[in-house]
Amino acid sequence: MHHPVLPWQTARMSTLPSIEQKLQRQAREVEQLLDRLLSPERRPDEIARPERLRAAMRHGVLNGGKRLRPFLVIESAALFSAPGPAALHVAAALECVHCYSLVHDDLPAMDDDDLRRGQPTVHKAFDEATAILAGDSLLTYAFDILCAPEAGLAPAIQVELVRALARASGLGGMAGGQMLDLEAERVSPDETGIRLLQAMKTGALIRFATEAGAILAGVSSEDRERLRQFGERIGLAFQLADDLLDLTADAATMGKATGKDAARGKGTLVSLHGEVWAREALSRLVAESETLLAPYGEKAETLLQAARFVADRKN
Ligand code: IPE
Ligand code: IPE
Ligand code: MG
Ligand code: MG
Ligand code: MG
Repeated sequence: MHHPVLPWQTARMSTLPSIEQKLQRQAREVEQLLDRLLSPERRPDEIARPERLRAAMRHGVLNGGKRLRPFLVIESAALFSAPGPAALHVAAALECVHCYSLVHDDLPAMDDDDLRRGQPTVHKAFDEATAILAGDSLLTYAFDILCAPEAGLAPAIQVELVRALARASGLGGMAGGQMLDLEAERVSPDETGIRLLQAMKTGALIRFATEAGAILAGVSSEDRERLRQFGERIGLAFQLADDLLDLTADAATMGKATGKDAARGKGTLVSLHGEVWAREALSRLVAESETLLAPYGEKAETLLQAARFVADRKN
């Protein structure tokens, strides 16, 4: 049902930031922290920061991503009023893992891509060996960031976050999902197989993002489970949208090559069920997210805007 917009409402409405504006504002904050973390200055117990490796890491990180995962960390933490500076550090750590996954995903041995975020991939701008090392260093740096005193995390929460991020990133999470994804180029998985590989390669880090807010705030296991389930819905929506865009968008819009899934014969839910089904599935996932977060009322509005953004995204 549409309510008429009354004159006294328009001023207030026009001052409310859109989800794009909120994303941009937080992206800037996360980027400032990442820029500082990747400065030439050594951290205690580091022996030296080789310039070429640091430059490659910066190329892989400070190159204009959407910063969606950091946004989800910060907004999930805000839902439970967890401290902002701690959430910002967790957000930066997660973005380092995500960027490492992209640097390695683009390598010739994996997806062999030349373009990422509208720029040459790290192995193109530098070389393959440097890109491998940049990925290694970003992954390990993520855990350094979580453990650094300036993150201000209480020890028990810190350990829980380290554990959750490690599990989301490795064998049983993102890296495991990338393995299944590569195998799927040889033997097409069925729907269950596709859902499993997507829940791992993309879903695990996104689920960590929303769950991290609950961990940071030390909330009840019920709240934590709700945020986990919300993360699972957005994770699936995110990869569905990525697969749709791979089919329908162009490289200039996406800042990365498109049409690759079909070219490699990669089974996705879109290739299995088609575009119309995928768009309906996206709407369903948004509706499920709304139901999941209903107990938080107005406070969850930004997270729900993020879910809608993920489902409707154009790049
Ligand atoms: C791309 O992630 C990789 C996938 C998991 C599909 P994003 O679309 O979030 O990439 P950036 O960080 O905005 O570049
Ligand atoms: C990548 O999936 C997921 C990662 C863990 C990086 P894709 O291979 O579909 O991501 P894009 O399309 O290259 O960003
Ligand atoms: Mg890939
Ligand atoms: Mg790829
Ligand atoms: Mg893709």
